[in-house]
Amino acid sequence: MTIKERVFSGMQPTGSLHLGNYLGAMLQWIKLQETHECIYCVVDLHAITVWQDPEELRRSIRQVTAAYLAAGLDPQRSIVFNQSQVSAHAELAWIFNCVARLGWLNRMTQFKEKAGKDRENASVGLFAYPNLMAADILAYRATHVPVGDDQKQHLELARDIAQKFNNDFKGGIERAGHADGVFFPLPEPVITGPATRVMSLRDGTKKMSKSDPSDLSRINLTDNAETIARKVQKAKTDPEPLPSEAAGLKGRPEAENLVGIYAALNGQSVDAVLSEYGGAQFSAFKKALAEAAVARLAPITSEAERMMQDPATIERILADGSARAHAIAAPIMAEVKDIVGFIRS
Ligand code: AMP
Ligand code: TRP
Repeated sequence: MTIKERVFSGMQPTGSLHLGNYLGAMLQWIKLQETHECIYCVVDLHAITVWQDPEELRRSIRQVTAAYLAAGLDPQRSIVFNQSQVSAHAELAWIFNCVARLGWLNRMTQFKEKAGKDRENASVGLFAYPNLMAADILAYRATHVPVGDDQKQHLELARDIAQKFNNDFKGGIERAGHADGVFFPLPEPVITGPATRVMSLRDGTKKMSKSDPSDLSRINLTDNAETIARKVQKAKTDPEPLPSEAAGLKGRPEAENLVGIYAALNGQSVDAVLSEYGGAQFSAFKKALAEAAVARLAPITSEAERMMQDPATIERILADGSARAHAIAAPIMAEVKDIVGFIRS
């Protein structure tokens, strides 16, 4: 059987989304809607791997959904939903907890970063998080996963899990009519946004992240024009003027990041930006960068704000998306249960 191409991706509803999420993943999500069946998830089960205030979590789920829609996800054409409304995610994650090996998870760098020194005190969920991510994708037998660069290792793990499941249950998979023995496709990462790794505005060697304690390190999709301009103005730079070619950005992580962001926002190449700004001081360049960021983000921010005034509509969209997601995942889960050897009604 040839498996149909299907896109799945998600973001965590912890705080608001930032420019890294937008340039690294979301632009790609929007584009893929034109060519593929797409399923976009607000991964609330992932969010509670670190404690969340329940009211804040509910608000973040709506906020991230509003940002998805305001940025251009079309809930008619694609499926937009929140993870906890579709039971297949948690069910398949449990089965994958029993497929994945401890040694595989021990190698995950994101767990090491997030757990920090106090590893003994991290939740078991934070450790098993990549298994849930594999379940998210494979509950729909999705084939393509658009993400930023930092999710590469988790996707390799999802492929390993799919492969091991296919091997471990080969007999049952063939008996269920999958003659080639492939039940789960090996999902392909799509890491091709205009800026797959946007760095912090305060430190060009650290990724822009929701969890950075300094709000000056990132541009949030909820920031107003004034805040964006202030953050860009305060962004760390070096004393040299901008180079006139990309090669001149080597060893200058802050300059490279700002030029990369500007290029991505304007849909230009880095070389084209530098041919215009080569030799310029950062003060001039930052002004242009702030303008580009505001021009791109302000319409998204105001549309998301408008949607947040009407939570019932957001919740209706999530419920509708969840029902459609469930309709795809339920028959796949039923087959998984047969293959594993459970008895179902
Ligand atoms: P998260 O904020 O961790 O839920 O990430 C959601 C998506 O945004 C994932 O596909 C990440 O890879 C992507 N992403 C997060 N931070 C960045 C960044 N600084 N640069 C590029 N992509 C990012
Ligand atoms: N782990 C991803 C992140 O932190 C979010 C995520 C959860 C995801 N499940 C997914 C991304 C499935 C792609 C596919 O960014």
